[in-house]
Amino acid sequence: MEKKPLVVVNGLVRKDAIAYLKEHVDVRQWTEKTVMPREVLKEWLIDADGLWCVRPLDVDGDLVKNASNLKVIAQAAVGYDNVNIDELTAAGIPYGNTPGVLNETVAELAFTLIATASRRIIENANFVKDGRWAQRPSNIKGFDLSRRTLGIIGMGAIGVSISRRARAFGMTVVYHNRNQRLDDKIHKTTYMELDDLLAISDVVCVMAPLTDETYHMCDEAFFKKMKNTALFVNVGRGPIVDTKALINALKTDEIDYAALDVTDPEPLPADHPLLDVENCLIVPHIGSYTDRTRLDMSILTADNIIAGVHKRPLKTCVNEEVNYKKPQMDVEFALEELKKAGVDLTDFD
Ligand code: GLV
Repeated sequence: MEKKPLVVVNGLVRKDAIAYLKEHVDVRQWTEKTVMPREVLKEWLIDADGLWCVRPLDVDGDLVKNASNLKVIAQAAVGYDNVNIDELTAAGIPYGNTPGVLNETVAELAFTLIATASRRIIENANFVKDGRWAQRPSNIKGFDLSRRTLGIIGMGAIGVSISRRARAFGMTVVYHNRNQRLDDKIHKTTYMELDDLLAISDVVCVMAPLTDETYHMCDEAFFKKMKNTALFVNVGRGPIVDTKALINALKTDEIDYAALDVTDPEPLPADHPLLDVENCLIVPHIGSYTDRTRLDMSILTADNIIAGVHKRPLKTCVNEEVNYKKPQMDVEFALEELKKAGVDLTDFD
């Protein structure tokens, strides 16, 4: 029997996705709860055809330098800031991410954070739970979203979905992006320079990817440019924010409140100073974390890997220049071969 391709998975992923993967390939998975030691992973990769990578892991040229059979790497995430794409491209390895399938889910979480923070839902609910309904202080008031301005920084597909939700709540939406978008997906959402956006927005929502340019983009000067009454939301990546500057801005009332799906570091250690900041709501990086969307992301990852190990094009490849090409059917050649094999082709004319 022909040997199946071998795929390494360096951590825990959904069992149903692993079962699906195993229908097509052999799987060697690190199932300990601890992070797989990098040197052990490098050893496993020597024989592997594919890698399903699980964070925390830096994926780069060093990781794959002895993996001469490796044909594909994929991860169940749209962001790939832990992956050195240039080095994988140089090694000729296509990398698959999971764009599209999580857009609405992440937009829902972003807007949930905005709505929850604007009405101080957690604080108010805690008073009720603690049996102190009548004692809740009068300063835990919410603020309206309607007739307010939302500024989105990073206007990709998820930003577009957040804009749609915000406009349904009666908000005016502006955005800042590396490039102004001129396509027809941008509806009633005005482009602005960053400083102008910060000056007029009541809610600032960061949706940008983490790059050299966006690292610590939200620093002391950034928060100073925001309104003192503004809500800051980060659903992009933790290191886009200088955490010390954010803590300071919240403690000194430079800004009113923050709601974060992502932090730096992740996970936050139990004694991290951000956890002592009262006007800050934090959830543990759950933007895409619904059962249906995590399944869609996992199946797309598995499909990318199954395609790659067979040298077929990945459905969603970041470095298209090394993606596999669809085999070209040479019809003349195929007909000749069939004739040589004695197949009667008259019925096919
Ligand atoms: C989640 O953060 C992702 O990049 O998909």
